[in-house]
Amino acid sequence: TRAEPRDRLARPWHDLRISVMDRCNFRCPYCMPQSVFHDDFAFLDPAARLDFEAITRIARVSAGLGVSKLRLTGGEPLLRPGLSDLVARLVALDGIDDVALTTNAVLLSRHLDALHAAGLTRLTISLDALDPVIFSRMSGGRAQVETVLAAIDQAAERGFPGGIKINTVIQRGVNENEILPLVARFRHSGVTLRFIEYMDVGTRNHWSQGEVVPSAELLSRIAETWPVEALAPLYRGEVARRYRFMDGGGEIGFISSVTAPFCGDCSRARLSSEGQIFTCLFASQGTDLRPVLAQNSDDALEALLRAIWQGRTDRYSEQRHDGAPAPRAGGAHDPQERIEMYYIGG
Ligand code: GTP
Ligand code: 5AD
Ligand code: SF4
Ligand code: SF4
Repeated sequence: TRAEPRDRLARPWHDLRISVMDRCNFRCPYCMPQSVFHDDFAFLDPAARLDFEAITRIARVSAGLGVSKLRLTGGEPLLRPGLSDLVARLVALDGIDDVALTTNAVLLSRHLDALHAAGLTRLTISLDALDPVIFSRMSGGRAQVETVLAAIDQAAERGFPGGIKINTVIQRGVNENEILPLVARFRHSGVTLRFIEYMDVGTRNHWSQGEVVPSAELLSRIAETWPVEALAPLYRGEVARRYRFMDGGGEIGFISSVTAPFCGDCSRARLSSEGQIFTCLFASQGTDLRPVLAQNSDDALEALLRAIWQGRTDRYSEQRHDGAPAPRAGGAHDPQERIEMYYIGG
């Protein structure tokens, strides 16, 4: 077989994040503010979404180029009808040893058994607050925190081979008071809590550096109550820095894309629900895979994906503070400067 491609910074391609749905049943102000994503917002036509056949084909060809990890994202991926059928197809691919799902968990209870039976490896649930008022403010007021917490408990009881994680975005002055309650809730639960630094994704959340709570600050606040020690990375390029509680309460992680960028080992590409592939979360331009999909030639698809990866130079998080302008030009989907999280997933 031919060699697996390296990008221009010698990074291999291991990870493909697949957005299966651009819509979401939440309106988190930092991702899909209601004022922009209102009832008349022009989401993609459902017919424009890649079907499971096409997604599976892209994943299969990607696996031939070195990809072994897949993650299904949205918007909210559980809004996509029949998602567990897609999971089953992806799990069955040669070379794929990990299929994870990122969800806000509002629809999780009803899909849990099917996802588990389909062979889903891992589950990541987004949760920014335990307090009902703060939860509601941070998710757009469309769901109850109890629904999410109940789904987390059910998922933990059900168990997934690669485990369950909670992703929490902390915004200065918004949910800082939730830090310790969240840690307390998930210590000793077998579920791993991870804090994500608030990032300048997209153009619609009016991000400012002042709203970022650096991971170092979070860590010291947490360690005052529960001492921790650092754990070694599990693999090269691991996104989260992990710590374990000295008292055996489990582990926590920090994803510090603002204060400690991890582009050096970044091996991720992202596929939008209608078939654009992006080589960075902060890209402004993707490549439309639909023309090559229409040719029905795996060789042509492989050649294109290989060329895209080999041409890759992205390291946005490392350049953020260089004073370099954010990547520009018309986004493929939208005349915005950068792709949005709802469009490409986390
Ligand atoms: P696993 O190791 O598979 O659990 O994946 P992960 O550590 O990448 O975790 P996950 O996929 O849950 O990502 C968590 C969050 O980290 C995402 O929602 C993003 O906010 C952020 N993140 C993940 N990958 C990247 C990346 O390539 N660049 C940046 N800047 N942020 C990322
Ligand atoms: N910064 C950091 N994390 C974000 N997420 C969405 N937008 C941002 C942002 N601007 C998180 C969600 C979810 C994951 C998919 O990405 O809260 O946990
Ligand atoms: Fe919130 Fe995730 Fe939906 Fe964005 S995609 S609005 S972060 S739940
Ligand atoms: Fe990878 Fe881009 Fe994130 Fe850097 S900013 S880690 S290159 S996705």
